[in-house]
Amino acid sequence: MPNLAGKVAIVTGAGRGIGRAHALALAAAGAKVVVNDLGAGLAGEGHDDAPAQQVVAEIGAAGGEAVANGENVADFDGAERLVRQAIEGFGRLDILVCNAGILRDRMLVNMTEDEWDAVIAVHLKGHFAPTRHAAAYWRERSKAGDEIRGRVIMTSSPSGVFGNVGQANYGAAKAGIAGLTLIAAQELGRYGVTVNCLAPNARTRMTEETFDMGVPEAGFDPLDPSNMSPLVVALSADEAQGITGQVFHVWGGAVNALRGWSAGELFASDERWDADALLAELLARFPDGVAPTGMIAGMQAAGGQSLRAQ
Ligand SMILES: NC(=O)c1ccc[n+]([C@@H]2O[C@H](COP(=O)([O-])OP(=O)(O)OC[C@H]3O[C@@H](n4cnc5c(N)ncnc54)[C@H](O)[C@@H]3O)[C@@H](O)[C@H]2O)c1
Repeated sequence: MPNLAGKVAIVTGAGRGIGRAHALALAAAGAKVVVNDLGAGLAGEGHDDAPAQQVVAEIGAAGGEAVANGENVADFDGAERLVRQAIEGFGRLDILVCNAGILRDRMLVNMTEDEWDAVIAVHLKGHFAPTRHAAAYWRERSKAGDEIRGRVIMTSSPSGVFGNVGQANYGAAKAGIAGLTLIAAQELGRYGVTVNCLAPNARTRMTEETFDMGVPEAGFDPLDPSNMSPLVVALSADEAQGITGQVFHVWGGAVNALRGWSAGELFASDERWDADALLAELLARFPDGVAPTGMIAGMQAAGGQSLRAQ
């Protein structure tokens, strides 16, 4: 395992599920960890300090060092306090894993304004805010002459990169996070910070209610949340300094560096298209029509499987 001794990490939403696994793995690799979790319900309701504190206790029992933080990542000032807690408590910040999230699934035609706003806030703003404050810290350290090996690891979703029915709010936020990864990677490279993103798959309370996923009686469990964390540890290693701006789909042991929006079918004309001619060309190139294949097909093409029992 890469040696992260001396490094300090923040993991948001680390009281449960995938974030908990990341926090345990980073601590096992030697990093000191700020375990952030609001302790919210699945839809983002309520506040409970216990999940973050339990993970801190687990890390301590395994010989690691961690501290709890109960800030809401979608609160700009709260995110700044989170980043400051790492810097003031542990003396520095090296790794930021943005992972906290909620769900309020609904078909687009029935989605309420509040369902839209809450999900966009926790995911999209909840990734922007801690990244923004961590980036300001790294820029300051870089300008002061420090050699920075900063890491931001964000969390998108198959829903965001392939598109999933019933998740217009969540998928739009997760697609936004993939876009944020691309831009932050380009902006922060000059300060020595890499920015990458996971599109994970795991059995957590977030997926258990929707999908029928049993635990295998024996052998490798592809949906164990811990399967998501070796990539986080690997990307945090100093040697991974050249890997940035990537969105990785992870299913069990299959890690796929996705190719996102990239040049596709070109309709080229030397001058402005005439709409009739362009329509004729569209119909000629797509004689059977063209439409997204959806999340399950995308996951399978990336080396995963459907989350539904086969
Ligand atoms: N489980 C999957 O298969 C899957 C698939 C794709 C993406 N994801 C993403 O992975 C991440 C982790 O999800 P999970 O499956 O472990 O879910 P989870 O519900 O088990 O964990 C999410 C944690 O985030 C915390 N949280 C929620 N809102 C918060 C806020 N505003 N501030 C701080 N903490 C907050 C919750 O209290 C919870 O402990 C999420 O971003 C999720 O969208 C998960």
